[in-house]
Amino acid sequence: MRRVAILISGSGSNMLALLDSMEEPGHPAMPCLVASNDPEAVGLAKAAARGVPTAALSHRPFGKDRPAFEAALQDIILGHGADMICLAGFMRVLTAGFVGQWQGRMLNIHPSLLPKYRGLHTHARALEAGDTEHGCTVHEVTPELDDGPILGQARVPVEPGDTPESLAARVLTMEHRLYPAVLRRYAAGDRRPVWLP
Ligand code: GRF
Repeated sequence: MRRVAILISGSGSNMLALLDSMEEPGHPAMPCLVASNDPEAVGLAKAAARGVPTAALSHRPFGKDRPAFEAALQDIILGHGADMICLAGFMRVLTAGFVGQWQGRMLNIHPSLLPKYRGLHTHARALEAGDTEHGCTVHEVTPELDDGPILGQARVPVEPGDTPESLAARVLTMEHRLYPAVLRRYAAGDRRPVWLP
């Protein structure tokens, strides 16, 4: 049984989708921790309400010392016996040192069809480019931001009159399907990508 730490910074809707999926019979993974760099993240309370151990570690007292923040985070993660990490709306860039310790064992979900639109404001950028389709990607985390082997993608149409918000909502619905599908396969040792819908 793989033990998954989920890292969040915000509402945690992807985290909840992952928690739900890991309750399915025969799932090869279980959640051992939900941690946030933002002690106010509403997702923390949602995870606690589900009986999952939670931890808050603000990055702020560490200032620019990312390695010190990451060392403290690593202690918490290992303290909960995690052997895999799912980043789910975790809004801190991780250094190569941290990523290296989890390479091949850390996934991320990004709201674009990578390699398009790494970084922020992906929905607005897709609209500005006049794209007719958009979507989300789950990938293995490597030191380059929003890079790494693609483990799954889900596509949605861009509709006339879409705003970044309406498009984000349509993509998020697919994130909640894609991430659990990828985690289930990946935790069982199968790295073949998942393509949705
Ligand atoms: C998602 O769109 C995810 O792809 C992005 O941040 C958002 C997190 O949403 N990186 P939530 O916290 O899972 O609700």
